Amino acid sequence: KKLIIINGPNLNLLGKREPNIYGSLSFTEFLDTIKEKYKTVSIEHFQSNIEGELIDKLQEVGFSYDGIILNAAAYTHTSVGIGDAVKAIETPVVEVHISNTFGREEFRHHSYIAPNAKGIILGFGLQSYELAIQSFL
Ligand code: DQA
Repeated sequence: KKLIIINGPNLNLLGKREPNIYGSLSFTEFLDTIKEKYKTVSIEHFQSNIEGELIDKLQEVGFSYDGIILNAAAYTHTSVGIGDAVKAIETPVVEVHISNTFGREEFRHHSYIAPNAKGIILGFGLQSYELAIQSFL
């Protein structure tokens, strides 16, 4: 199985950014343990702070990979373009969030990804990503 985790803006700061909300582990530390645990699957990782780069990556992998785990971060709530890309591709997308966005500000309650996602996992910290990986196994 070929999976990819696509992370959006500011998620490169995981471990440093608002650790009370997002935890103190960096994403690379987390990914190393996950790759070790799920050795039989290929798990790639791409992060960008740039909306168009996220769309380019979705298009690039979206017709050949088995699964996409997408945390579009703030673009979740703003990007018609990323929402359209998720609709356009064939690979199923699981939307992921570290925090429970429904317990936070009103503007985080809407997602442009959700209508075309295979499913959504949120609120479990970095474990949200692991649960998404398991959904593709
Ligand atoms: C987030 C939630 C978003 O509302 C926020 O903009 C993020 C991270 C999460 O993983 O909890 O950057 O996607």
